[in-house]
Amino acid sequence: MKTVMSGMRPTGRLHIGNYWGALRRWVEIQAEHRCFFMVADLHMFTTAYEESSRLQEHVREMVLDWLAAGLDPEKCVLFKQSDVPQHAELTLLLSMVTPISWLENNPTYKEQLQELGKTKLARALEGEGILTKERREAISGGQLEPVEPSSEAVRKELRTAGFLGYPVLQTADIALYGANLVPVGQDQLPHLEISREIVRRFNGLYGAVLTEPGPVLTPQAKVPGLDNRKMSKSYGNAVDLFETAAGLAPKVMSAYTDPLKARAKDPGHPEGCVVFAYHKLYSDFADRREGECRAGAIGCVACKKELLTSMEKPFSEFRERRARFDKPGLVSELLTAGGAKARAVAEETMGKVRKAMNLR
Ligand code: TRP
Repeated sequence: MKTVMSGMRPTGRLHIGNYWGALRRWVEIQAEHRCFFMVADLHMFTTAYEESSRLQEHVREMVLDWLAAGLDPEKCVLFKQSDVPQHAELTLLLSMVTPISWLENNPTYKEQLQELGKTKLARALEGEGILTKERREAISGGQLEPVEPSSEAVRKELRTAGFLGYPVLQTADIALYGANLVPVGQDQLPHLEISREIVRRFNGLYGAVLTEPGPVLTPQAKVPGLDNRKMSKSYGNAVDLFETAAGLAPKVMSAYTDPLKARAKDPGHPEGCVVFAYHKLYSDFADRREGECRAGAIGCVACKKELLTSMEKPFSEFRERRARFDKPGLVSELLTAGGAKARAVAEETMGKVRKAMNLR
């Protein structure tokens, strides 16, 4: 049995990309391993620090989705990062031994700075009337070249110590629980490499106190958005995990399909088709459909309708389960209980850390 730790930023309701990409795996492994699953509310502030007015609501919505998807507080520890102050304490101590160059050379740091710079700077320019809404949307949608992110505006907004130190916070998350299995997406791999280096450095200086996070990657499904770009709330191309039947139909019917298949009888190319990608997740006849599509034996409209039928049952089951958990106070009680469990484990690690550093 291994110790597993993973987290998600509280972005509110989850979409099917979050489910197939991460949550489903969490549900699977909760029975096999000792699992800690965390609402990464502190992580949220590393990039979205200006706006937190809806944070509580977003936490609640996301945890409800977790429960409805099958995470069971009897089998795993569900908690909120900020309920466990040891995360902040260990982050500070680890930051003492982390060379800045490791953080600056983090490839995702550079990329994210670019990516966020695009939208943030664009929004700032829009506020000043320099940029129209249309142009801003074109930029964040990737149709236009990004604005140079090294400008002063971006530097002020994003060159925060918290954003640079993101991998240190994440290392603390993992190390507090002695996790040796960390299921994350491909995009998080460089962070985990840094985590291993920080832990090694700490142990080299103070003795073998912390556990090195072990091998990580469990292959996870990539789910395209309705328009065939990466699925993201901010792109408006997401399918919510708990979409209503009325909400689901127009989304599926407008989903991107092979542009070369203009007529029903034209042969199609399922590999680039969003509807086919969803069939693979929801329909047991995806293999047959692949052949039918290539042969021009079915049109996209009929194919989409069948997808809707396949999605009906899992979606209504999810919705029912979610409604059952959606009671006042339930999520916060559950997080309070999970927080206490997490704190007990985290405090044990901190006791060793403080001692190793001669703070006690
Ligand atoms: N950084 C992760 C993300 O944004 C979330 C996260 C926070 C995490 N702490 C973690 C993942 C620890 C794995 C382990 O997706």
